[in-house]
Amino acid sequence: MDKELKPSDDPDRKKVSVTSFMRMKTEARRIVMVTSYDYPTAAIADAVGVDSVLVGDSYGMVVLGYENTIPVTVEELLPVCRAVRRGATRPLLIGDMPFMSFQISPEEAVRTAGRFVKEGGMEAVKVEGGSEASKVVESITRIGIPVLGHIGVTPQTATLYGGYRIQGRNAASSDKLVEDAKSLEKAGAFGIVLEMITEEVARVITETVSVPTIGIGSGRFCDGQVLVLHDIIGLYPSFKPKFAKRYVDVAAMIKNALQNFAADVRNGLFPEEQHVFRMEEDQRAKLDSKRKI
Ligand code: KIV
Repeated sequence: MDKELKPSDDPDRKKVSVTSFMRMKTEARRIVMVTSYDYPTAAIADAVGVDSVLVGDSYGMVVLGYENTIPVTVEELLPVCRAVRRGATRPLLIGDMPFMSFQISPEEAVRTAGRFVKEGGMEAVKVEGGSEASKVVESITRIGIPVLGHIGVTPQTATLYGGYRIQGRNAASSDKLVEDAKSLEKAGAFGIVLEMITEEVARVITETVSVPTIGIGSGRFCDGQVLVLHDIIGLYPSFKPKFAKRYVDVAAMIKNALQNFAADVRNGLFPEEQHVFRMEEDQRAKLDSKRKI
């Protein structure tokens, strides 16, 4: 791997802890979070100074090809967490608790969170849900594992109710979202992801709670922003959310590279001289003399 893409060993770049992550809100510094699901992209995220890397359950969709996030399991996510951990050391590392890994009981939730830390090398976990998740958030934080909340569109349950609907379009929905955020803050969440919430309501939530809000499709006034890596780099062919910004079309680049590779192989243009291994001259002479017999 290119030296520049190795995990940061720059001593001036400090490790992002939960405390420094939270401090960014009071210092009015915008927080940058991105998802990652492997060693190389985690290393790149670290090298460019991203503040936090989330091993999202979106892995199930953008890497494994599931239709939604429901099927992905803890067993599938843990090796991904370990790979990300090997790639990124400086950003705050957060593991996403998948569907049915925390809903049954707070005890089960604590056990799962513990696995993300102990077996996955994560430094915090994310839990979807508003006030209904606050007991779980409280139980996990009580044993010392930091929790990032997630309200608005919560894909694990939105799927079951028939799709993603923008939240906070009216007063009732707005009140509920503000209450959800307050209840997660009270339960000990160190930050809250706001997904697909109207900009006005996301702003009110951000001004109401003391912990950082991280927006995804929730406008310009959150304390930070998160996007799915594959949306940023154009590597998820099925769908591009309206709120995502594509900075590069990696799918097109891969397609082009593979077309060129296939054409070179078919036309005998690959491998070339520079790609082959050769015998020493004297060994080749011996081989040639044997072949002549
Ligand atoms: O799974 C995920 O990638 C997420 C983020 C988009 C917030 O939950």
